[in-house]
This record gives sequence, structure tokens and C-alpha cells, in this order.
Amino acid sequence: MRIAISTGGGDAPGLNAVIRAIVLSAHTRGWHAYGIRRGYNGLLGDDGIITLTPDKVRGITHLGGTILGTTNRGNPFRWAVKDASGAEREVDRSDELIAGFGASGFDALISIGGDGSLKIAYDLWRKGLPVIGVPKTIDNDVTGTLETFGFDTAVSTASEAIDKLHSTAESHERVMVVELMGREAGWIALHSGIAASADVILLPEIPFDIEQVCAKIRARDAAGRHFSIVVVAEGAKPRGEEPILLERRAAGTVDRLGGIGSMVARAVAQRTGKETRSLVLGHIQRGGSPTTFDRLLALRFGSAAVRAVADGAYGVMVGFAPPDIVRVPLVDVIGRTKNVPLDSDTVRTARDLGISLGD
Ligand code: F6P
Repeated sequence: MRIAISTGGGDAPGLNAVIRAIVLSAHTRGWHAYGIRRGYNGLLGDDGIITLTPDKVRGITHLGGTILGTTNRGNPFRWAVKDASGAEREVDRSDELIAGFGASGFDALISIGGDGSLKIAYDLWRKGLPVIGVPKTIDNDVTGTLETFGFDTAVSTASEAIDKLHSTAESHERVMVVELMGREAGWIALHSGIAASADVILLPEIPFDIEQVCAKIRARDAAGRHFSIVVVAEGAKPRGEEPILLERRAAGTVDRLGGIGSMVARAVAQRTGKETRSLVLGHIQRGGSPTTFDRLLALRFGSAAVRAVADGAYGVMVGFAPPDIVRVPLVDVIGRTKNVPLDSDTVRTARDLGISLGD
């Protein structure tokens, strides 16, 4: 068996652990593993294919990033090309990719990615490619798995950052607003906000009223707590409005969110008269060494994906359904964002703790 591995979309801590698990699980069976460089570029002639022997994946479980490289602009079905005038248009290079896969003598593809990459995996499977998906994203927004690897690490990083904001906020009696990643889902903001004792948490799932945010800050002031920590998910939006985009991207890729943190900070300063600062934690949430939880989840995903290859179970994604790793049809995963359920225990916990969710 010759298994090809691809990592697509934004990186997430744990990618290297998945790669290592696939390579070693393949080796255990006497099979061979290959890494496609930079998403699918390696199969489209733009980049290389790497032979992944056990010695190539030694000592990488704890490393962030991906040894294969990745891209979120590499959709083979909607490949952006520039014509002579410099204008961009899209071409479908999926047949070329499938031909490259066959020419390389591969028997199976394990595609590690978020919703975008899993949709590409599904489309390739529909065209006949033997594909297995492995869900990856710090956002934790993939349906069919309780958690994605990378999420726990991002939450730890965000919690540590919020912890650090407490002392400076208190010393200066300021409101500190921190914007966190997560796209259209509020998982990172909710989990880190609760764990690190934020006073207000704003989620995409609960459109907020700025007056409610200010009411919480004023109430704390009245109680002698002259500082507040406001955690804002990048996809959070005021009631009746749309999320703020930093950049609208070409079709076939996702738009970039960002800017809501500074908007909330300005509004809070104007309405409460309190000194307010904002920061965007940004890509720090995607970096660093994966937590033990993420390493183990990633290793389990990688090995489960190779077991799926052994069973000839294609067109599926491996998912975490504690205590098991399960196989979920890709068709049930794609195009569905896993949002924070409003009646979840975690949301109720936040409310019980007196955290304002801005509604
Ligand atoms: O999906 C992961 C993620 O980090 C999101 O949380 C964020 O909105 C986006 O990727 C940022 O993408 P880029 O790396 O293109 O700036």
C-alpha cells in the first residue's frame, strides 16, 4: 500500500503528530507513506512529494505547524490563475490532480484539514479517489467530531493570555478587550473566557447588545471592581449586524474576519468613559507545541485513518466520539458548521458564574 498524506488550510498544533502516526502505522503494516507538499500543490507539479519513512518523522509529535507545509489557497477545483492582463480566473485542476495521484502509484489519500479541505476531499472521493479525512482546526467547528486537535492548544494559549491581562487591567483600572480566533464559531472564546475568568464573552452564536456589555462593566465598577476583561470572538456581531471582515477573498476560499475587538473597545470607552485597550491575539493561537490532549487525539486520528485504509473504508472522516474514534461519512460533515449550542452546559456555566454574554 502506498498512502499519500496532505495537510490543507490553516495549520493547527498536532498536524505533525497525525503525520507521524500515519507513517508509523503504515510502516507497522509494511506499507509506505508519502507527503504531498503544500496542500495538493505537490500533486499538481508545483511542488514535491516526500517519501516519509519512520526516520523522517522522528521527534516531531511535539512540534507545531506541519512538516509538509500547507495553504488555504489551493483548492484544485477552483484554482486561481492569472491571465496575461493580470486578471484572476479560476480553473478546475481536479482531473490533473487525480492523474498525478495515479501516476505516483498511490493507493489511498489521507487528507488532514478543516471544513474547506474536507469538502475538497469529499469532491475528490466523488470523482473516484480513495480518500479518508482527518479533521483539523483550532476553531473546533467541524461536525462529526466532539473536538478537533489544535483546539485544546489554542484554548490554553488564549487562557494564558487572558490571565496575563488581568494584572495590568486591575493595576490601571482599565477595560481590556481581547479578540480571539474561531471564525463563525465561539468555542475558543467561550472555553478560554470561562477558564480564565473573563467578565464578558461575546460569541458569534449570541449577537450582542453593547449596552448589556457596558451594564456589566458599570455593575463591576459599582461593586468596587474597577477593571473588566472582555473576550470577543472574531465572528461576534452586534444584534442585527453582520460580522466584520478584514478581507474579502476570492471565490473558493474563505473571507478573513477581524476588527470586532477594537470596535467593542471604542464603544465601551465612549459609553462608560472608562480607559479601554484592545488587542488581537491572532496567529499565536495557532502556534506552539500541542498540548498532551491534542497530541494524543492527533496520534489516535492518524492511526485510525490507517486502520480505515486497511478496511478499505473511504469517503469517511475519523472523528472523536469519546471514548472511541469513529468513522463519519464525509457527506454528513461538509457544509455544516458545528456551533456552540446555546443550551450547552458550558454556556449555562458561564451564565451561572455571572459572566455576561452580551445578550
Ligand atoms: O481556521 C483557523 C483560523 O485560524 C481562524 O480562526 C481564522 O479566522 C483564520 O484561520 C485565519 O486565517 P489566515 O491564517 O488566513 O489569516
